[in-house]
Amino acid sequence: MKLAVVGTGYVGLVAGACFAESGNDVVCVDTNDAKIRLLRRGKMPIYEPGLEELVRRNMTEQRLAFTTTLAKAVRDAQVIFIAVGTPQGEDGSADLKYVLQVARDVAKAMNGYKVIVDKSTVPVGTSEKVRDVVRKETTHPFSVVSNPEFLKQGAAIEDFMKPDRVVIGAEDERARAIMLELYEPFTRTGAPIMVMDCASAELAKYAANAMLATRISFMNEVANVCELVGADVDQVRRAIGSDRRIGTSFLFPGVGYGGSCFPKDVQAMMRFASDKKYDFKILNAVESVNKLQKTRLFAKMKKQLGPLKGKTIAIWGLAFKPRTDDMREAPAVPLIEALVEAGAKVQAFDPEAAPVAKGIFGSSISYTTTAYDALKGADALAIVTEWNEFRTPDFERMRTLMRSPVIFDGRNLFTPEQMKQQEFTYHSIGRS
Ligand SMILES: NC(=O)c1ccc[n+]([C@@H]2O[C@H](COP(=O)([O-])OP(=O)(O)OC[C@H]3O[C@@H](n4cnc5c(N)ncnc54)[C@H](O)[C@@H]3O)[C@@H](O)[C@H]2O)c1
Repeated sequence: MKLAVVGTGYVGLVAGACFAESGNDVVCVDTNDAKIRLLRRGKMPIYEPGLEELVRRNMTEQRLAFTTTLAKAVRDAQVIFIAVGTPQGEDGSADLKYVLQVARDVAKAMNGYKVIVDKSTVPVGTSEKVRDVVRKETTHPFSVVSNPEFLKQGAAIEDFMKPDRVVIGAEDERARAIMLELYEPFTRTGAPIMVMDCASAELAKYAANAMLATRISFMNEVANVCELVGADVDQVRRAIGSDRRIGTSFLFPGVGYGGSCFPKDVQAMMRFASDKKYDFKILNAVESVNKLQKTRLFAKMKKQLGPLKGKTIAIWGLAFKPRTDDMREAPAVPLIEALVEAGAKVQAFDPEAAPVAKGIFGSSISYTTTAYDALKGADALAIVTEWNEFRTPDFERMRTLMRSPVIFDGRNLFTPEQMKQQEFTYHSIGRS
């Protein structure tokens, strides 16, 4: 099938590359000229495991191309995916300006029947808005489909190639058949393709992210209570996770959720509920718990270390989660800002996100090229992202590098017993 994917961010680039991998002819479109030039050279604008190899292979085999010229890509395509950003607007709602602009541009370029697929995360009713915008600009026939994306950054290709499910909101048979054909190669292992109305598909994406954010905030509160009553959140997590009604995923307490999706999607869901005069009370709490959780590691450090002025603090992990260089809403940001504000000297290491962090903190902190270098002369180490390479470090080497062997573990990578044995003063989340 001939496809155009508009927007080459985490979603568009991954979707484009994966659709090409399954034999389609894909043209990825972006207004960001620098990004397109980079991609044409086979270089990735983001870090995502396996992406570069996938993109390069499909470019070489001439199934994947990159352009800034939307009109030609649209004319050549049967299906056009809209995968541009839907950032948080000032009032918390999803800002649809990019989506609707693309819809307008697509409509102007149309030369026959097209399926216009909304892959961006958009509030209920957006498919209607897209339909209206397109109808105003063209007399050609078209279908609008809602196809929310559930991939996880850090495992995006795996998630796209082997999805838990594919959700398709389609209200006419022609578009439905095309979408089923397109996704068939990705669901051979039995993952369901769920076809539904557009409103349900649109809402499903927000409900999924809101549910996941809720689990995180819930467990963070459980952890906070564990600290107060002398319980161990790991034991509590195991005990509740083994209940099949609850399950084990997304029960790890930490320093709060971040990234480009959960914070904005929780906000947007509250907002479109309140537009209908519905007060989504749980999500309000989820968000305020998360904000507070992002301050807790700093509060612990202040309490345990005393005044931070002049102290050297090592940071392991800057990205909002492992296997990505994305720092949008990352818990490391408010933590580092608070440390710098308190007069601490910050030495940070992240396997991928240092270039992004430099754009945020500039020279107010230092960046090291190894995890151990960050520890030199440190009064304490704060672990903020659970990269695998932090899980089994050489503790003896750490002790010799640090001024004092103190760890604030925001991801519970180690156990208190292990840390006692290794002669570290150890503070973690939800364990006394
Ligand atoms: N990042 C994720 O893990 C994830 C997962 C599922 C869904 N989503 C949703 O998918 C959408 C895209 O997210 P993302 O993280 O890929 O965004 P992103 O910010 O990484 O990328 C968006 C891209 O769209 C481009 N763009 C903007 N306007 C354009 C236009 N008019 N024409 C062509 N290109 C244009 C930008 O230059 C940018 O490259 C959002 O709605 C997001 O909520 C994201």
